[in-house]
Amino acid sequence: MSTPLADVSVEASGCTRCPLAASRTQVVFGMGDPSADLMFVGEGPGAEEDRLGLPFVGRSGQLLDRLVLEEMGRRRDDGVYIANVVKCRPPANRDPKPEEVAACRPWLEAQLDLVDPKVIVTLGNFASRLLLDTTVGITRLRVRTYPYRGRVLVPTLHPAAVLRGGGGPMAQVRADLVRAKLALAGDPPLATRP
Ligand code: URA
Repeated sequence: MSTPLADVSVEASGCTRCPLAASRTQVVFGMGDPSADLMFVGEGPGAEEDRLGLPFVGRSGQLLDRLVLEEMGRRRDDGVYIANVVKCRPPANRDPKPEEVAACRPWLEAQLDLVDPKVIVTLGNFASRLLLDTTVGITRLRVRTYPYRGRVLVPTLHPAAVLRGGGGPMAQVRADLVRAKLALAGDPPLATRP
């Protein structure tokens, strides 16, 4: 059955709004429960994601799945939706350019509107800075939670930073996921702005 989100995904699959369209294998729109109350937002697809057309399917994604299950008791298809700031892989995994982020933003806005999650977890600097409209870095942003259009936004480290950094960052992400769980249970945001 077609849903509004599935329709937008089909539309996005042919997107040529920025130069990343020329180098991608396919658009990685997002995946998960279309009426999830919990949404994760990463940076952009890597090689595995570009190959399979699904977000967070490489090592970072496996770690994310594990931590979300252990700290929140949820799996991807159960009350979770996963998306990225940019839907196409930047060549050689470089950072997305501001114009690419801007061109892709309407797709993310559509996902936020249609999934309508109660809690958004932003993974790393890109997603956290974009949605909180700040230049403050993730290490300072995390620990607090923020209001976002009537929702609660929980910034945390990108799982790739945990893969690089080990135990310290891992404990930080775990603590942030507990904050997200509390927000789902009704805890209000801890800060009013970054
Ligand atoms: N990193 C991201 O930010 N997104 C993915 O989908 C995979 C790795």
